[in-house]
Amino acid sequence: MQSSDIKVQLIEESKISQVDFNNLPFGSVFSDHMLECDYKDGKWQTPVIKPYSPITLDPSAKIFHYGQSIFEGMKAYKDAEGSTLLFRPLENCKRLNKSAERMVIPQIPEDIFMTGLKKLLEIDNNWIPTKEGSSLYIRPFMFASGNGFHASPANAFKLLICTAPSGAYFAGKVKVLIEEKYARAANGGVGFAKAGGNYAAQFYPTQLAIEKGYNQVIWTDDNTHEYIEEAGAMNIFIRINDTLITSPTSDRILDGITRKSIIQIAKDSGIDVEVRKITVSEVIAAAQSGSLKEMFGAGTAAVISPIAGFGYQEKDYDLPELENPLALQLKKQITDIQTNKAEDPYGWRVKL
Ligand code: PLP
Ligand code: COI
Repeated sequence: MQSSDIKVQLIEESKISQVDFNNLPFGSVFSDHMLECDYKDGKWQTPVIKPYSPITLDPSAKIFHYGQSIFEGMKAYKDAEGSTLLFRPLENCKRLNKSAERMVIPQIPEDIFMTGLKKLLEIDNNWIPTKEGSSLYIRPFMFASGNGFHASPANAFKLLICTAPSGAYFAGKVKVLIEEKYARAANGGVGFAKAGGNYAAQFYPTQLAIEKGYNQVIWTDDNTHEYIEEAGAMNIFIRINDTLITSPTSDRILDGITRKSIIQIAKDSGIDVEVRKITVSEVIAAAQSGSLKEMFGAGTAAVISPIAGFGYQEKDYDLPELENPLALQLKKQITDIQTNKAEDPYGWRVKL
């Protein structure tokens, strides 16, 4: 598909002058345009870029009833020369298709995804923030627009890509609750997919945790609740003495792009990294002995979010305040690559 094949309907008047780029929230101010692509008659049609606006769906569209819906999260950055940069975008496209397969949503051709996204970013280029710590959050999503109450996959779908100039996901340091009762995902389930329902299912336990003063839940395995898995919107890293530990991905854990980039950067910086199962009791014992140095979450929205402390079985554990935490060193390393402030030996940065 050529970029010129994409139909473009431009907005009459841009909303950009109403936006305070110095005080951006996360994901709630939307750029002028969005991309819409329909799957019907057995194939994806040519995408359209049009003004960001509500869409009309039949009340019996299967998204509403059976939750056939998946999404991705990416970011666009500007470098000092004003070039637009993406970070490992093909990984997002691949993961979208992995989620799609599990949710019986047709595969989106890489060509439509990338050509459409690049054109959308060209059109809304001045919506990409330049301030440090801000970026254009990109939300591609696909869902069942086909209708009928029969509990079976739809025959029509939509891909939409919306973008939102955004600041930090978390306002400050994060306090987490290690979950003992509820589960996010199960073996054989859809935890590895970015399925909308995975997030809906987290809201209730997360709400209970928020009522107790925590920001996020750290999920444990559904079977024994003994193993640390991941948080609601990020993978988890734990530093015990000089070793950085993160759980292996599985059926139940999202294969985070930030996670795998951090593992690579940390290893190449000479840090001892262990990808292995880690029990809650190991973390508690480390907290009690003082060998637990840091915990942090990693994800596109969250970047690297240091964890200030955690709760478990009605007890709170504080992490030490460090002068030069590894979390912040790794955050600088990855964001410098993303924003072209450092060499990218991995070829992860994509200049548009
Ligand atoms: N885990 C979950 C459940 C997520 O929603 C996310 C966010 O995308 C992540 C981990 C981190 O993944 P990534 O680094 O690819 O954004
Ligand atoms: C992301 O980090 O892009 C995510 O998708 C997490 C989201 C729940 C905000």
